Amino acid sequence: MKIQKNISLKDHNTFGIEALAKYFCEIKSVNALKNALQFDDYPNKFILSGGSNLLITKDIDALVLHINIKGKDILEEDNEYVLLKVMAGEIWHDMILWCLDQGYGGLENMSLIPGNTGTAPIQNIGAYGVELKDNFVSCEAMNIEDQSIQTFTKDDCNFGYRDSFFKNEGKGQYIITSVTFRLTKENHNLNTSYGAIEGELKKQGIVKPSIKDISNAVVTIRQSKLPDPKKLGNSGSFFKNPVLTKLEFNTFITAHPEARYYKVTDDQYKVPAGWLIEQCGFKGKRYGDAGVHKNQALVLVNHGKATGKEILDLAKRIIDKVFEVYKITITPEVNIIK
Ligand code: EPU
Repeated sequence: MKIQKNISLKDHNTFGIEALAKYFCEIKSVNALKNALQFDDYPNKFILSGGSNLLITKDIDALVLHINIKGKDILEEDNEYVLLKVMAGEIWHDMILWCLDQGYGGLENMSLIPGNTGTAPIQNIGAYGVELKDNFVSCEAMNIEDQSIQTFTKDDCNFGYRDSFFKNEGKGQYIITSVTFRLTKENHNLNTSYGAIEGELKKQGIVKPSIKDISNAVVTIRQSKLPDPKKLGNSGSFFKNPVLTKLEFNTFITAHPEARYYKVTDDQYKVPAGWLIEQCGFKGKRYGDAGVHKNQALVLVNHGKATGKEILDLAKRIIDKVFEVYKITITPEVNIIK
């Protein structure tokens, strides 16, 4: 196994932030991961995957293990369904394109989300009315402590909105090595209820969409709103949409009747953080090279040479202002390395 020294992480985080890994090792198999975790010479280890939900604010003084384990395997199938096991290092969007080529449905609404498959369960990624948990069967993860492989069912993962066991009790203890999905081969469960998808399909004159049509519509919508990390560094939504209790929501909406919101349950109301941030005047603003995207205020961007610290300062400025105006605390969904 090759250990490299002082490697730039600029191309390993979609924010495009310059930071160094003191030691760096590419992990291409589950066995290699096991061996690397047993290296006593480097007691501090840092797990890096697609780097799409990461803000690095300093050099990483550890052995960075870059999870790049590839492979897809059909575990079971019948006429209607397929159980597909995908290794952690498979690029999420490429995996979806492959599924569409095979005629497997279920993941199409989550097309073009940056990152790798192995990290998708950690924050239960989601977009346009579908979340990872909707097609998830189980995942395998390596216990960092004893390098055993454990299987986690959907219940074990305790998925929530941008949340899971791996962000809470299991934090820092496991590395997901594969994810198994249950996908449809026919009678696809098409989800076009999200306003933007309906609008896009209509615009394209598509009445009976296929899973590929939905994927294409999502790609078009995302490209129009969300910056391409290859051209403008970003990590998607920087903040989560705050969820208010009914009591909190009543106070909020009485003071701000013009606000956007969605009712999640009888006692949960989601307010779009993008709306709050835009109302506070941040949309399209730039402070040096750290900025807020011009088309979606939930996305912070690196215009070139922003440091992680500068992006973090901007995030703090936004959090403070939103609290000052709306008395709502918004929290980052991005993993911040301080
Ligand atoms: N809005 C504004 N101004 C903005 C942005 C949004 O007023 O600058 C309003 C919109 O007009 C709309 C509402 O906020 O009424 C919601 O906007 P949008 O549909 O763009 O979705 P979002 O809630 O801002 C979430 C996810 C995105 C996902 C989209 C579509 C979170 C934190 N973000 O954004 O996920 O693509 O829905 O499903 O839940 C990501 O997690 O990285 C991500 C991009």
